[in-house]
Amino acid sequence: MNQSPDTLTIRQPDDWHVHLRDGDMLQSVAAFTARQFARAIVMPNLSPPVSTTAAAKAYHERILVALKQDLNLQNSNFTPLMTCYLTDTTDADDIAHGFESGVFTAAKLYPANATTNSAHGVSNIANIMPVLERMADIGMPLLVHGEVTDNDVDIFDREAVFIEHILSKLVDTLPELKVVFEHITTADAVDFVNASGPNIGATITPQHLHINRNAMFQGGIRPHAYCLPVAKREQHRLALRKAATSGSAKYFLGTDSAPHEIHAKESACGCAGIFNAPFALESYATVFDEEDALDKLEAFASENGPNFYGLPLNEGKVTLLRSAIAVPQLIEVGGTKIVPFHAGQKLNWQIVE
Ligand code: NCD
Ligand code: ZN
Repeated sequence: MNQSPDTLTIRQPDDWHVHLRDGDMLQSVAAFTARQFARAIVMPNLSPPVSTTAAAKAYHERILVALKQDLNLQNSNFTPLMTCYLTDTTDADDIAHGFESGVFTAAKLYPANATTNSAHGVSNIANIMPVLERMADIGMPLLVHGEVTDNDVDIFDREAVFIEHILSKLVDTLPELKVVFEHITTADAVDFVNASGPNIGATITPQHLHINRNAMFQGGIRPHAYCLPVAKREQHRLALRKAATSGSAKYFLGTDSAPHEIHAKESACGCAGIFNAPFALESYATVFDEEDALDKLEAFASENGPNFYGLPLNEGKVTLLRSAIAVPQLIEVGGTKIVPFHAGQKLNWQIVE
């Protein structure tokens, strides 16, 4: 890493959690991720979900075609890393074959109905124990959406209850299983990850570093600040900032960029998800700078993730410049209108193209 007061050059980062979607939306958003990141873990919550090796191969191909159709990206080396959406009936042989043949990098556990397109998720973790045992045997990472879905558990407590009732038991039962606790939002999750062994890592999104739950209600209801897991109290945001900037190898960059068209967000029942891909690295850099931890950004963004997954570090470099950049109110690509994270605000860092 090479640091001077106003520029920062780091190894090219990867995004270890992104929703690239499909069809027109994929075509509209893929470039934003490929502009910044060398690789990305692509979430499988399409409709229908990507739950077999064959479906993942086909989706991988559609992503590459979308990148090729974008004139600015025809020489891009961006590599999508595919994930398998676990269901109650996932076939252990199929996903083991998908992992061993390089189609899948990991598998994703969505508790049924926890979030967008998760109706086919796992209704009880006991149903997939044979699959998880197989994954532990072959070294295939499990990516976890860590929220219980019981209506009698307060939405702000769903992550903490998941740790207590499900994740802590799973980790005790299968200590060899590599687990990424995705998009953590609480001090409870930070405590759990810190106290766990090296097989347990976590991704942290830009929004959970920037906003607390007040952002959803500032002067009125703010659908663009709504994502799942939902932002929590300030004390949790501060714990996440401390964890991300601590230098611990357990934490890495995962934007959870989750685009929904403006009409699907600004609605009587608005979708969960924040579209942060256009200024993701700029958003993280602003946080690390505010925390006086720019020297820790490279590990978080570009080293801890590949080291956890056992993948090589990227050779390319990215330079950031301390110079204000204005985030537009709206991003419109190919007729798709999406409000980005930080819309109408300024960030303190920009990428030197
Ligand atoms: C994601 C989406 O829209 O696909 N939404 C979100 O709020 N993060 C799903 C998810 O990651 O939970
Ligand atoms: Zn997500």
